[in-house]
Amino acid sequence: MARRNKIAVVGAGNIGGNIGLLCAERRLGDVVLYDIERVLGPTRGKALDINQLTAVRGLDSRLIGTSDFADAAGADVVIVTAGVPRKPGMSREDLVEVNLAIIRDVAEKVKTYTPDAFVIVISNPLDAMVYALHKLAGLADNMICGMAGVLDTSRFRFFVAEALDVSIEDVHAIVLGGHGDDMVPLTRLCSVGGVPLESLLPRDQLDAIVERTRKGGGELVQLYGTGSAYFAPAEAAVAMAESYLLDRKRVLPVAARLSGQYGIDGYFFGVPARIGAGGVEKVYEIELLPHEKAMLDKSFASVRSVVAACKL
Ligand code: LAC
Repeated sequence: MARRNKIAVVGAGNIGGNIGLLCAERRLGDVVLYDIERVLGPTRGKALDINQLTAVRGLDSRLIGTSDFADAAGADVVIVTAGVPRKPGMSREDLVEVNLAIIRDVAEKVKTYTPDAFVIVISNPLDAMVYALHKLAGLADNMICGMAGVLDTSRFRFFVAEALDVSIEDVHAIVLGGHGDDMVPLTRLCSVGGVPLESLLPRDQLDAIVERTRKGGGELVQLYGTGSAYFAPAEAAVAMAESYLLDRKRVLPVAARLSGQYGIDGYFFGVPARIGAGGVEKVYEIELLPHEKAMLDKSFASVRSVVAACKL
């Protein structure tokens, strides 16, 4: 008999709370919001608050807020948002030490209670934290990936739609590489309703959009003043969870573990991948022009140095 899916969210801050809400709205299953004891009150509050909107919307999802990860046992999906967000002026890389300690703790919990879940990591610095969790929890390569590209492409598409005054639905984009300031939006492969983007916007405007996309997370950190973006990151992670739970087989840019693709072996890096019931089922390789490859190599060098700083 089919049972309801269970989604565990590690870290019940703004991103975690919104993930809970979106999972309920999309009827993806029941949600366990987990956070440390010190914030148990607000964690339970978020779960209760969302439970109390389900009547209005006619939703069946149940949420619980807990500081005991045993409540997440058997979850189908684990979304890891735990970690300290950036403060204005900080890079994602500045977070390595403190967030790595948190990921070590999460790895033990995942190993014990949710070893078979599909794990989606949001914590920064993203490409290194997903690398760390994969290694420390001993997860299968296809059962863990990082959320970055869906968010980065969504930002890029928004800026393009705004610049051209067109529906965002028809703006298709691809951003490769690490979730840092040298990520690689591939403007050559972007299109608007099938029309190549590079024929619609002059180079300087395209470059400005690329730059704003790369610094997209930082722009939000500056504006909020107290933490990172949360609506768009939550939506992006839930799109990935949905593709897994419903076996939609969407092709999404995610930080997937590479085994030789793009000349990279054993690291997590942003690439287009098919997400379905088998987790990360397939990585797609794009033939790149020399200047695109150079940008990707630069992005990978950054990822590699942050992973090295983790000393795993
Ligand atoms: C951002 C964070 C979530 O890019 O990495 O907003």
